Amino acid sequence: MSDDGLIAVFDSGVGGLSVWRHIVRQLPSEDTLYLADQAHVPYGHRSLSEVRQFCSEIGRFLLRQGATIIVIACNTASAAALKYLRDVFPQVPFVGMEPAVKPAVARTQSGAVGVLATEATFQGELFSSLLDRYAGDVDVITQVCPGLVDAVEAGALETAETEALLRTYLTPLLRAGIDQLVLGCTHYPFLLPTIDRVIEGRASIIDPAPAVARQTALVLAQTRGGARTGHVGRHRFYTTADVEVLRGMVLRLLPESGCAVEINRARWVGGQLFSRHPVSRRAILR
Ligand code: DGL
Repeated sequence: MSDDGLIAVFDSGVGGLSVWRHIVRQLPSEDTLYLADQAHVPYGHRSLSEVRQFCSEIGRFLLRQGATIIVIACNTASAAALKYLRDVFPQVPFVGMEPAVKPAVARTQSGAVGVLATEATFQGELFSSLLDRYAGDVDVITQVCPGLVDAVEAGALETAETEALLRTYLTPLLRAGIDQLVLGCTHYPFLLPTIDRVIEGRASIIDPAPAVARQTALVLAQTRGGARTGHVGRHRFYTTADVEVLRGMVLRLLPESGCAVEINRARWVGGQLFSRHPVSRRAILR
């Protein structure tokens, strides 16, 4: 890994890979770290304060590994901890996520948009402030989706059970006349073929991942003056659970990425994260 700093991306599990793939596509010469906190997935039904504790330690861990930009590729973690992390690590640029209510409201013709996300995402202040700022007269219909994150983590992307779950969650939204569907959890883009089958073209789907990757490139330009050249990005992944499970999922979810990825184990011990991988000398910590 180079000494120019790393873009670190994290999520409760493999969902953030739906963002990571866009970052790598837009910034192919950047080295990246990806952390999947699969020991604690799903985050969505946990309290915001518990998720905040995980995120603050993950932030510390990623900085010890040499991260110079941290992308929170998880709506739940952003809802729980984005503001907190910016306060605790004021010198670190964070890129967070929020459900794409703004573009959905701008595009709707029917006056109704649907948002799929976790319970914790809807509970956070971030979501209520999004509604205050952008919903206007548009009917923003929220839907929590228990079981979908687990389905993605288990690789059950197109099974009959997953399709049945999606039908249960999407049918009321479609009946209410939505014409825009916001994917407010980074695991859900991996279910797109199944979502498409249920929706049958009745609503447009909005995945904010490409916009998050553009924002990451912008932050890189502001902090380092732009992407590096003459280098092929290298990628190191960590999971807090089973390395072989993550390896299998990376092959399954990102067959097109073609990137060589090194996968390591990070362990939670007494609320702190450790890895045997050597710590970078470029660590920024307070
Ligand atoms: N990918 C996370 C998100 O965007 C998943 C949440 C979970 O672990 O429940 O919200």
